[in-house]
Amino acid sequence: MCIPFEPKNIIVTGGCGFIGSNFVHYVVNNHPEVHVTVLDKLTYAGNPENIASLPKDRVELVVGDICDSALLDELIPGHDAIVHYAAESHNDNSINDPFPFLRTNVEGTYRLLESVRKYNIRYHHVSTDEVYGDLALDDPARFTEQTPYRPSSPYSSTKASSDMLVRAWTRTYGLRTTISNCSNNYGPYQHVEKFIPRQITNIIDGRRPKLYGSGENVRDWIYTEDHSSAVWDILTKGRIGETYLIGADGEKSNIEVLRMILRAMGRDADDFDWVADRPGHDRRYAIDSSKLRRELGWKPQHTDFAAGLKRTIKWYVENESWWRQAKAATEEKYQRNGQ
Ligand code: NAD
Ligand code: TYD
Repeated sequence: MCIPFEPKNIIVTGGCGFIGSNFVHYVVNNHPEVHVTVLDKLTYAGNPENIASLPKDRVELVVGDICDSALLDELIPGHDAIVHYAAESHNDNSINDPFPFLRTNVEGTYRLLESVRKYNIRYHHVSTDEVYGDLALDDPARFTEQTPYRPSSPYSSTKASSDMLVRAWTRTYGLRTTISNCSNNYGPYQHVEKFIPRQITNIIDGRRPKLYGSGENVRDWIYTEDHSSAVWDILTKGRIGETYLIGADGEKSNIEVLRMILRAMGRDADDFDWVADRPGHDRRYAIDSSKLRRELGWKPQHTDFAAGLKRTIKWYVENESWWRQAKAATEEKYQRNGQ
C-alpha cells in the first residue's frame, strides 16, 4: 500500500506562468495547511499579477532562475517538495530561437535534479504529451505511458530530454520523483501568444483570428484546474518513479475550436484568416489517462468544453489590463513570421 505524502512547504517553479499560477491558486484554495514558495525568473511569460491576490502568509515569491544552483542551495532547505513547472513553453518561439529552451528546459531541470539529490527532497516533474510526437488524424490510437518518445519540435525535444534526465536520476541516484505528461491546457492567465487567448483577444481588438495550415490539426483540451488537481494527486498519492498521463478526453480540431470562439463572441464562424502553417506542425495529440484514473481515482471536473471556453472568454474580456501590454509585441512577432 502507498502511504500518502503530506507536504507542508512546497516550491513551485514557474508559479507566475499560466499553469503554474493556476496550480498555486488550486493549492491555496484546497489545501490550507500548505505554504507555497514560488521560484520564477519572470521572463516575458511570467507575471507576478497572477498570484498577487493570494495571501502573503500562504505564498512567497522568490524571483530567480532555476539554473542558479547557489540560489537553489539557499532556497530548498526547509521545503519538502518541488513541483517543477518552469519552462520555455511555446513551440513557435522554439522554432525561431531554440537556445533558451535548451537552457531552461534541459539545464534548468538538470540543476534542479542535482539539488534534489543533495537535499533528498520529493520532486514532481510537469511535462507535456508533445514528447510522444504526433498521431495521424485517422489513427484510433491515443498516447499511453508506454508510447515511445518521438518529439518533433525544439520545444518538445527539450521537454523530452528533461523527462529522460528525471528518469535517469531516479534510477541511478534513487530520487523520489514522479512525472506527468499533460495535454493542451486552457483557462485564465494563459499568455496571448497561445492559440485560444490569441484568438479571443484578436476578436476583442477587432482583428481577424489566425488559423495555421488546414486547421485540421487536433489538440486534446483540458481545463487548467483539472491539470492542477491531477498534479496534486500524483504528488501526494502517486507511486515513486512512475509517469502518469493527464487528459480529459477533449479532442477537437483547431478549426472547430476557432469557430466555437467566434460564435460565442457573436461573430460569423468564417470571419478568420488562414495563415502560414507552423513548420513541422504536429497533427494530432490524444491522451489515454486511464492509469491516473484507475490508480489514483482522479477525474476531471470541467468536461464541458463549451462552458469552459465561455468562462475563459469572459475572463479575457474582464481582464484586458492583464493582457494588453503583451498583445502588440506578440502580434508583431507573428506578423514577421507571416502568421
Ligand atoms: P508559461 O510559459 O506560461 O510559464 C512559464 C513560467 O516559467 C513563467 O512564469 C516564466 O517566467 C517561468 N520561467 C521560465 N524560465 C525560467 C527559469 N529559467 N527559471 C525560473 N522560471 C522560469 O508556461 P505554461 O504554459 O504555464 O507551462 C508550464 C509547464 O507545463 C511547462 O513545463 C510546460 O512544458 C508544461 N505543459 C504545458 C502545457 C500547455 O498547454 N501550456 C501542456 C502540458 C504541459
Ligand atoms: P498552441 O497554443 O501554440 O499550443 P501547441 O503548439 O502546444 O499545441 O497551438 C495550439 C494549436 O493551434 C496548434 O495546432 C497550432 C494552432 N495555432 C493556430 O492555428 N493559430 C495560432 O495563432 C496559434 C498560436 C496556434
